[in-house]
Amino acid sequence: MELKTTLDKSLETAFNDQANAELWSAYLYLSMSYDMKDKGYDGIGEWFAKQAQEEFEHATKFFDYVQARDGKVKLSPIQEVRQEWASPKEAFLTTLAHEQVVTKRIYELMEKAEELKDYPSRNFLNWFIDEQVEEEDTPRKYLSELEKIGENPAALYLFDQKLGQRQD
Ligand code: FEO
Repeated sequence: MELKTTLDKSLETAFNDQANAELWSAYLYLSMSYDMKDKGYDGIGEWFAKQAQEEFEHATKFFDYVQARDGKVKLSPIQEVRQEWASPKEAFLTTLAHEQVVTKRIYELMEKAEELKDYPSRNFLNWFIDEQVEEEDTPRKYLSELEKIGENPAALYLFDQKLGQRQD
C-alpha cells in the first residue's frame, strides 16, 4: 500500500463526523445541565455544563486535526437532543450508555487508521482512547454513589454540592 502524508478522504469524513458527534455530546450534556438545574440540582447541573465544554473541546480537537492534515473541515447540522431526565440517576445512566457508544466509535476510527497505516492518526486517536476510559469511569462511579445514597435527601444534597465543585 502506498503511504500518504495527507489525510485519506474516508478518514477526513469519519473525523468530521466524529467532531459532529462530539458537538452532539456537548448538546446532550448542556440539555442535562439545564434540566438538572430546573429540578433543583444546581451542582450536578454545573458538572454537566463543564462536561458540555469538554465535549466542545473534543470536537475542536478533531476539526483542528483534520485541518492540520490538509483536510477540509465540515460543520454539519446537530441533531436534536432529549430534554428531560427523571432524576440524576437517569441522567448518569444516559451518560454512561452514551459514552460507551462513543468509545466504540473511537475504536472504529482507530481500526480505520490502522488499516490505512496512518501513523499520525493512530497517535492522535490514542489520546481519545485514554480519555474514554475516564469518560466511562466517572458516570459509573457516580451511579454507584447514587445507588448508596438511595432516597436519602441529605446525602443527595452533599452529592450535588460535591459535583458543583468540579474545576475542569
Ligand atoms: Fe468526547 Fe465524552 O467523549
